[in-house]
Amino acid sequence: MTLPAYRPFPPGSQPPHAVASYGSTALRAPRQPPVAIEPGIERLGPVFSPAQFPVASDLSREAGREALGERIIVAGRVTDEEDRPVADAMIELWQANAAGRYHHERDTHDAPLDPNFRGAGRVFTDGDGRYRFVTIKPGAYPWRNHANAWRPNHIHFSLFGASWGARLVTQMYFPGDPLLAIDPIYQAVPDPAARARLVASFDLELTQPEWALGYRFDVVLRGLHATPMEVAP
Ligand SMILES: [Fe+2]
Repeated sequence: MTLPAYRPFPPGSQPPHAVASYGSTALRAPRQPPVAIEPGIERLGPVFSPAQFPVASDLSREAGREALGERIIVAGRVTDEEDRPVADAMIELWQANAAGRYHHERDTHDAPLDPNFRGAGRVFTDGDGRYRFVTIKPGAYPWRNHANAWRPNHIHFSLFGASWGARLVTQMYFPGDPLLAIDPIYQAVPDPAARARLVASFDLELTQPEWALGYRFDVVLRGLHATPMEVAP
């Protein structure tokens, strides 16, 4: 059986491989044309389950102790190129702590680590494509890409949906962040409408009174309204 190929991404909806203002892309952008694959094979892919990869949907505490920072709830729906829910998608998350520091040996930013925040999580979508997790709003951090370069607040998302062709690694941003206007990674997506899909919306309905603010981040895997990759697909 020949599986139908995905439609190409609309022009300008995804970042190019190499972006002059985003220094490290020069080191990893391919210099050779891509290798053709058997048509339709991108519709195949691994299926993951919580039995193999345990759910960790509360990043806001470690061994029962609360992390420092602004507690938030992030939730949304994952849909495909035909606006159908993507069930059982594995979503892996990683982020800096409230002070803008990653729990990682390579992060030497002069900001405090939080013993109660590791900044890694994993959730799966339900039958209607919905997901939800609790975390701490990440801080901005410097990244030496250029003089006085600071990343906007963001949460890294990796999604394994229905197939390899719908694989997505991206970043969720927060509305109203002044650093978005000068961030080379966010600005690498040429189409402003596609770029805006990377920004979550504040959601009072999702906000839990006297406990946590809510942000909604819906993700579209492939199609005309696909959520952009953080770097070129
Ligand atoms: Fe980051």
